[in-house]
Formats: sequence, C-alpha cells, structure tokens
Amino acid sequence: MKTEGGNDDAKRRAGEAAAAAVEDGMIVGLGTGSTAAHAIRAIGRAVDSGLDVRGVPTSFAARELAREHAIPLVPVADTEQIDLAIDGADQIVPATGACIKGGGAAHAREKIVAAAADRLSIVVDPSKTADVLDRSVPIEVLPAARTTVAAAVAALDGEATLRRAAHKDGPVVTDNGNLVLDCSFGPIDDPAALATELASLPGVLEHGLFVGLTDVIYVGTATGVDRIEIDR
Ligand code: A5P
Repeated sequence: MKTEGGNDDAKRRAGEAAAAAVEDGMIVGLGTGSTAAHAIRAIGRAVDSGLDVRGVPTSFAARELAREHAIPLVPVADTEQIDLAIDGADQIVPATGACIKGGGAAHAREKIVAAAADRLSIVVDPSKTADVLDRSVPIEVLPAARTTVAAAVAALDGEATLRRAAHKDGPVVTDNGNLVLDCSFGPIDDPAALATELASLPGVLEHGLFVGLTDVIYVGTATGVDRIEIDR
C-alpha cells in the first residue's frame, strides 16, 4: 500500500539530486511514484536543455509522465542494459539499502529495471527510512494463484490481503493484468531469506522486497539531501 503523507519538498530534493547524476548518452530507468516523478520531471527539464538520454519506464504512469516531458523512451522489453535507474521506495533500511516497493503495484517492472541497471538510486523522504523493514510486502500474483499464495503466506506467519481498487469495484489489476496481495509479516529480520521464500511460491510473479540492488539512497530532508552509498 502507498505510504501516507511524506513531505513533497523533501521528495523533490531527493528526486532532483538523483536526476543530477544522469549524464549524456545514458539509458535511464524511470521509476514509479510521487518521489521518482520529481526525478522524471528534472530529467525532462535537462532533456529540454539538450541532455541526450533514453528513458526506460517502469509503469504506465512513468511512461505517461516521461512522454509529457518529451523524454525519448525505449521499452524495457527492448533493453538489455541500463546505466542508472532512479526509483522510490515505500520503506528502506539506510544501512543495507534493502527496501519494500510496490505501493503503486509497479514493483515487477521496477525490479526488472533495477536488476538490469548498473546502478540503482533510491529516492525517499525521511518518513520512509527504518532500522528494520516492517511494512506489508506487496506480492503480484497470477489471478489463479491468489488463494494458494495467501495460504502459503499464512504458513510463513504472514497475513495476505487482496488489494482493492479505490475508484473501481473489485481488486487492483496491475499493468501486467495480475492481482496484488499486501502481506504483513511484522518486523522482517532477514529480508533476503523471506525474498527467497516468496520468490519460490508458484503463481508469484514478483514480490516487493528489493535486496542487494540499491547502490545509492537519496534522502531528501527539510533543508537538503543526505546521500548514502551502499557497499554491495
Ligand atoms: C511503485 O509500485 C512503488 O514501488 C513506488 O516506487 C513506491 O510506492 C514509492 O512511491 P512514492 O514515492 O509515491 O511514495
């Protein structure tokens, strides 16, 4: 589920700082959500001033925003390698870079792009940082697997809730035509182990635990940006 609140100025500072690292000739992963949107807008302004980049959108929403800002695009299906991906997170541990994504139900493509990128920058405001991940983990499932995956999550001491749409009767349907289970496990002491368990469940298309992918975290604050390098 989306995180409530957060400071938009702090998000903007984080997004713009990450976008400032984009260089001429790069292929750039364009993340999804309100913080990554600030990076997309900043890249759009740079393109307007002559920066030569191609963007790889992680969702319908990211593609729409990038097109609005005239950023040349290449679909992820046509991309073997990405220089830098910039994306938001729903919660992140600054010490390790492990994070939970998928509040916008875009985590499957976001993970494809993040994993293909030489470097992944995560942009957040301070409300997203935590010592231990404890938010619910979004899991995109094939519609036919929603019941069996929910049962498997219960066997892992988790609780799965089918994500409901806000402006439509029935469930959220992802850009890939699947459903999302928001799964709470309490504090996640070993995200890598849980990630492996979830990835092994039949019918799971992708889960929102991102472990070992983050290179840099930009935390926008009230006055500036904290830049944290992750050694991975
Ligand atoms: C999209 O599915 C998510 O992974 C987003 O990146 C995440 O929800 C962060 O979004 P905000 O920046 O809007 O909080």
